[in-house]
Amino acid sequence: MSSTSPSAPGVRQADIQFRCIGCGELTGNARQDFRCAGCGDLLEITYPDWKQSRTDPANLKSSWRNRKLSSGAIDLSGVWRFRDVLPALEDEQQAIALREGNTPLYELPRCARITGVPRLFAKHQGMNPTGSFKDTGMTVAATFARRAGFRWVACASTGNTSASMAAYAARGGMRSLVLVPEGKISWSKLSQALDYGAVTCQLRTDFDGCLRLLQELVLRAPVYQLNSINPFRLEGQKTLAFELLEQLEWEPPDHIIVPGGNLGNSSAIGKALLEMRELGLISRVPKLSVIQAEGANALVRTLRQAGGKRLISVSAETRATAIRIGNPASWKKAVRVLEETGGACEQVSEIEIAQAKAEIGAEGIGCEPASAVTLAGLKKLVKQGFVKTGETVVLVLTGNLLKDPDFTIEFHRGELFKDRAQGGSLDGLRHPPVVLDATLDSVVRTLEQAEKS
Ligand code: F0G
Repeated sequence: MSSTSPSAPGVRQADIQFRCIGCGELTGNARQDFRCAGCGDLLEITYPDWKQSRTDPANLKSSWRNRKLSSGAIDLSGVWRFRDVLPALEDEQQAIALREGNTPLYELPRCARITGVPRLFAKHQGMNPTGSFKDTGMTVAATFARRAGFRWVACASTGNTSASMAAYAARGGMRSLVLVPEGKISWSKLSQALDYGAVTCQLRTDFDGCLRLLQELVLRAPVYQLNSINPFRLEGQKTLAFELLEQLEWEPPDHIIVPGGNLGNSSAIGKALLEMRELGLISRVPKLSVIQAEGANALVRTLRQAGGKRLISVSAETRATAIRIGNPASWKKAVRVLEETGGACEQVSEIEIAQAKAEIGAEGIGCEPASAVTLAGLKKLVKQGFVKTGETVVLVLTGNLLKDPDFTIEFHRGELFKDRAQGGSLDGLRHPPVVLDATLDSVVRTLEQAEKS
């Protein structure tokens, strides 16, 4: 590593303060591990000036709308367009941006019919530049990493964070170090990190082991950590909610449903909803619910077995590898947003995930397995009466269909579940490829059979 790297400086930013989510201590200077120097809990970003200089919410809404007409690089970013609610830049050129955000809000009429919810939307974060929601946080955190003088950025990842970090580091002229669990992330995600030039370490452990190691590394080496423990990431990710509400003409949906892994994203969206109410942009806060895979259900257990008071970690196992996390770092932040928005937390099985993924695919939309937990979870929340008929629901689809082709191909070939009887109920959703002789007859026969089915 170059001797010109800064020797582990703290992170300081004039217009914000870091607040400890445990003891509430405020500081202007965050340590490398983004933990409170007093009690060790995570930090979050607050904006002390908001209290004094209250901006008119109508002005904010119109300036965000007007920026859509601008061709300035910073306005083309669906994240920096909302820069009034982000840590300030002295100069717009400082932003490392790839036109992230600006993601579509699709209606899902077929899935609405399946679930019995009249208006069901998907906010598709898989349409970001590297194919996942991570880009919205990475543009902000990578920008402030470079501004603080770091040459190296690093993350532990189940794949999407590393792909995104590597891209933004490359664009910003920084080096990147990736720690991923060996054999437990999809090739698509791994290949992105390689192409973007990251130093990629496949560690013989799981995600939680990678993250533990990274926490020690950042205290020893001048690398800036870009996991969602980094509160700048969450500031960028929170713009999803601002953009969503703008797309809904500032009429809040009744429910927003997100997948839960390390629990940074749910925390970020929850923070945004509460800030939007504080700023007078909305008067009613949607219920934010978090869905986990049964095999990686630390938050579900934490709430059910410990009343949300202490983390119950698990040894995680799921084919939705993006959320194969047993010891979520931001669990306390997530518990708080569930309480403050009145949301629920549920778990779904591997079969339910595969079915929901195929149903979202059948809408012509598609997503990666971790994103499909949202639809599977919605079905449960409707059955439980938590989501009521007549309510509007938004699912946050976090990753693109192309992120995990192995899962999709195994599903359609009927190979995803070892026990065929187990997956048999999904036969109607399968569209396996067929191998044929290259003759007109065989293709016509296939077409006729398909017409009958
Ligand atoms: N969906 C996808 C597609 C993800 O990649 C992740 C997390 C999540 C949901 C869960 O979000 O962790 O904020 O609760 N992926 C991380 C990664 C851990 O390394 O890419 P979370």
